[in-house]
Amino acid sequence: MFISEALGVNEAGHLTIGGADALALAEQYGTPLYVMDEEVLRTNMRNFKASMDSYYNGNGLVLFASKAFMCKEAARIAAEEGLGLDVVSGGELYTALQAGFPAERIYFHGNNKTLRELNEALDAAVGHIVVDNLTELETLDRLVCERAEKAGTAGIESKNFVPGRDCRILLRLKPGIDAHTHDFVRTGQIDSKFGFAIETGEAMEAVEAAVKAAYLFLDGFHCHIGSQIFDVEPFTLAAEVLAGFMAQVKGRFGKEIDTLNLGGGFGIQYDKQDDALPYAEFMKAVSGTMRSIFEEHGLPMPYVLIEPGRSIPGPAGVTLYTVGAVKTIPNIRTYVTVDGGMGDNPRYILYGAKYMALKASDPLAEATQTVTIAGRYCESGDLIQEFTKLQPVVPGDILAIPATGAYNYSMASNYNRVPRPPVVMVKEGQSRVIVRGESYEDILRNDV
Ligand SMILES: Cc1ncc(COP(=O)(O)O)c(C=O)c1O
Repeated sequence: MFISEALGVNEAGHLTIGGADALALAEQYGTPLYVMDEEVLRTNMRNFKASMDSYYNGNGLVLFASKAFMCKEAARIAAEEGLGLDVVSGGELYTALQAGFPAERIYFHGNNKTLRELNEALDAAVGHIVVDNLTELETLDRLVCERAEKAGTAGIESKNFVPGRDCRILLRLKPGIDAHTHDFVRTGQIDSKFGFAIETGEAMEAVEAAVKAAYLFLDGFHCHIGSQIFDVEPFTLAAEVLAGFMAQVKGRFGKEIDTLNLGGGFGIQYDKQDDALPYAEFMKAVSGTMRSIFEEHGLPMPYVLIEPGRSIPGPAGVTLYTVGAVKTIPNIRTYVTVDGGMGDNPRYILYGAKYMALKASDPLAEATQTVTIAGRYCESGDLIQEFTKLQPVVPGDILAIPATGAYNYSMASNYNRVPRPPVVMVKEGQSRVIVRGESYEDILRNDV
């Protein structure tokens, strides 16, 4: 009936999220409101972990891609569930550390890390820095050398990793795979701003530089081919290309690379048309391919990392809005305006993202209207969805937009100086605020 495990219907016929009545949540906290179902969030983390255990015999780690949904509570939950973390900025790193996330399970990504961020990652002794380009490799090498000189540890040879001095790295590679998804979320093809291309020889050049660097330990490779991917094939192709590259590296440098990070990108269901595969299917297919290719090359199976983002918090989240006006333009369309929009969910204006909508007081009623759900921001493109089916609604009704747990709160802005809504976590019908809603004072916080 519904697209997300977070949703249900109670005796009053109202929509429930994690067992809590959506109308009661809207009443208690106001709208717009981000609601996250803790059970769904944790179950998704556990399922990924379980499939890592069953398909790779536990020889790997699931990293939560924190860009999808990051706050202290998200980091705490990921830590409790035994996951690692992919961070892409000093701010994400800071949040994780403040939440007590173990630094050794953090992988620091980003295609243009600042000097400050590289130093912060080194100060925190994150598990790995995922190097994107040669400039960054040189900078990191220089920083690590300078630190070693300052600490008096420079020149002390060691084949083994010296904690506090050495830095473990992965190289981000472009396997040249064209994942079938939106242009803005495709990243594995040569024409992408992320990483080293294998085809052009750039990746091998980076390996050579990394191998020469005194205190950098090249542990492996990373690739992320894109997001919201429904086919298994691009993932198995990427695994094939990377495995082949690892064999070439072994042949050329005699160096066995033992870590392979296959990124995230598993598609989720946003509306009824989306045909999301259970991610165990991806894991099964990719692990099968990996096993046969590594065997073919006479290489041991690597330590495998995956970085699911949206597929963990996405289905756990629902955004609640209050309907403002219903405006019908004869023979054109009917606009249903809500009290949020691109400030709390920029995904439609960014990439025409799909969503479905439900009337929270009667989600089982037939969706007889075709409407465009418009936000409250001063942009014509500020829409949640166009020409979507909805139950008849009137001003004051509460609308629920499911599958908004990923890249909504984390991409939110203060456009039009609208304060960002709170995030409420629900568990077994009980709710708690995990991110406070902003006030007007918060909006002025940095104004001089
Ligand atoms: C390096 C990296 N890893 C993981 C992810 C998570 O992707 P998704 O949310 O599609 O699973 C992203 C998304 O942009 C990414 O850039």
